[in-house]
Amino acid sequence: MEIVHTIAEARARLDAARADGATVGLVPTMGFLHYGHVSLMTAAGADGDMVMTTIFVNPLQFAEGEDLEDYPRDLDRDAERCEAAGVDLLLVPPVEEMYPQPVATEVTVAEIAAAWEGASRPTHFAGVATVVAKLFNIAGPCRAYFGEKDWQQLQVVTRMASDLSFPVEVVGCPIVREPDGLAMSSRNVYLDADQRIAARVLSRSLRTAVEAIQAGERSPAAVERLMTEMFDAEPLADLDYVGVVDAATLTPTDEIGDNVRILVAAQVGIPRLLDNTDAHDPAGLPDLD
Ligand code: PAF
Repeated sequence: MEIVHTIAEARARLDAARADGATVGLVPTMGFLHYGHVSLMTAAGADGDMVMTTIFVNPLQFAEGEDLEDYPRDLDRDAERCEAAGVDLLLVPPVEEMYPQPVATEVTVAEIAAAWEGASRPTHFAGVATVVAKLFNIAGPCRAYFGEKDWQQLQVVTRMASDLSFPVEVVGCPIVREPDGLAMSSRNVYLDADQRIAARVLSRSLRTAVEAIQAGERSPAAVERLMTEMFDAEPLADLDYVGVVDAATLTPTDEIGDNVRILVAAQVGIPRLLDNTDAHDPAGLPDLD
């Protein structure tokens, strides 16, 4: 695996690979890699010939007072994990390389980005869409892999790639969970022992919601109430939202039909945790009762 720090080096390697007929897989990350990230790299390696992972803690997607400075970092361990996952090229650009001057051009995605995470973090998705647009421009024609844990981010990036005609196929990959159900996230490292236990309420509430739907419940309000009650019983978890939404547009549904996603976000101690599931399929959500 080669590690490069400039956009020019990354472009040169990928252009040369494509000139030799290789297909490229891109895995954008902010580092502090866990097995969710590794699963993206593995999927990219299975689908294509050359995998580039990027590690860049993107200041644009952090608001004032968020954890930009404290965001966990461990480049040596990340590089080992990338190499073990079969990554060919690791791009680790410094901030000055990505943003040599104050950013005057931002990418915003209307509607999909406005609700849920967008309501709680109003500048977040413009920061994500802008950096991902840059990474797509750096990578060129490729498949790009994103985790379904950040379901809204996945929809925002998919829509952006389509609206702006990037030669990029966005691929969503299943959430990777700890054995007790907690969705893997770099920010889980902030949880202390009690908070770590409390954090299970996210995945447990989703599992309970899917079971209710499988038993015939079709009212989004009833499902949201069921989940909210579970958070009411967990004092260490501060619920931000639960949403029963159309999976692609993220608009609330009146009735639980096909293609519905259930979203949840909560603050547990320092980190804001996100999770979601297909409304009819508890794939990966353990049955712990
Ligand atoms: O999901 C993330 O880690 C980030 O939002 C991303 C997509 C790498 C953009 O900085």
